[in-house]
Amino acid sequence: MNAKLYNVKDKLNIQTLDNHHRDVFTMIHLLDTAIQKNSREAFLPIIEFLSHHCIEHFMEEETLMKNNKFDHLKEHQMEHKKFTHKIKQITKMYNENIHTTHIAYGIRQLIDALIIHIQTVDIKMKGMTP
Ligand SMILES: [Fe+2]
Ligand SMILES: [Fe+2]
Repeated sequence: MNAKLYNVKDKLNIQTLDNHHRDVFTMIHLLDTAIQKNSREAFLPIIEFLSHHCIEHFMEEETLMKNNKFDHLKEHQMEHKKFTHKIKQITKMYNENIHTTHIAYGIRQLIDALIIHIQTVDIKMKGMTP
């Protein structure tokens, strides 16, 4: 479970991005709570976080990479695109009243993938100037 904790080595020293990354780790707890409560409403904060903060976060990163003339911008953008697509799928499932078990499973997969992205892809932005 240790790999699922936000670690100081994951920090980019770019305040807004680091705060958002920390929030991704916090979502693990939000998801556990939502599953325990077993109510659709409990999933709403996660859906909102994903569809607003995550998407804005991707744009913020991409702007920073452009400004810093980052070499791996294209491949990074491709990953963000995949996440955005997955987020839209999850939001659609939620809006269409699909059973929360499926939504929880989709969110779990997404969180795991986002954490790997933070630790292996985002980390390459370390040292950039905001
Ligand atoms: Fe990120
Ligand atoms: Fe990213």
